[in-house]
Amino acid sequence: MSSPSLAHPLTSLRVCVAADAEAAAEVAATRILTLLREKPTAALGVATGSTPSPVYRALARSLQSEPLDLSRARAFALDEYVGIDPRAPQSYRSVIDAEVTEPLGFDRRLVAVPDGSSADLDAAASAYEAGIDAIGGVDLQILGIGHNGHIGFNEPGSPHDSPTRVVDLAEETREANARFFDGDIDRVPRQAMTQGIGTILKARSIVLLAFGSGKAEAVARALEGPIAEASPASALRRHADVTILLDKAAASSLS
Ligand code: F6R
Repeated sequence: MSSPSLAHPLTSLRVCVAADAEAAAEVAATRILTLLREKPTAALGVATGSTPSPVYRALARSLQSEPLDLSRARAFALDEYVGIDPRAPQSYRSVIDAEVTEPLGFDRRLVAVPDGSSADLDAAASAYEAGIDAIGGVDLQILGIGHNGHIGFNEPGSPHDSPTRVVDLAEETREANARFFDGDIDRVPRQAMTQGIGTILKARSIVLLAFGSGKAEAVARALEGPIAEASPASALRRHADVTILLDKAAASSLS
């Protein structure tokens, strides 16, 4: 079981340290289901990577025991690699299809992923941002955090008011994600299209999850370090409704 959410003494964020990743994922899944029961047309912001997978699995389990029609809900992915074939298994389009759209019963037409294979990437990024605004914004944004503190693919140095745009991936991000490309960093794209930090901060509520000791320093910097462009996740302290769900290892560097 998780501990109750506590207001962190140094930030406005609610921090919840769960017994393990599965317990934290259950808390996030419950938040999502509560929203979707109240608002069947809600817009979810969805992350990819290892961290949110247990959340999506917990949601699928809940939906089996307690069915809920998600076909009117919307989802907006955080990011996509530039230049990747959207049908490749590593594309975030494929990951979102496999982990979110199909198992949870979203209508594919209501699930948006940035178009990293567009011939006009800048126009595609602006259109993505406009698409989020047009439906009235994201209700609940799910986030992971990179070892370097990135959210989405907003690497250190990203302005806290940045919009959806094309970015260069940090070498450490490409190294971390090589595990999805058979360990071959040369196959990891060098650029991505990502919701900006400003885009993320427009979501009405945000839940960031982090698991494992490898994330402990990034979590501590985000929550207790300076609010600065060098620390993308520190921007979350500018938002009024953020919950941080951690396992014990990811919380281990907090004061
Ligand atoms: C994924 C994303 C990234 C990841 C972060 C952590 O859509 O935007 O910010 O959340 O790189 O990745 P994992 O969870 O694989 O450790």
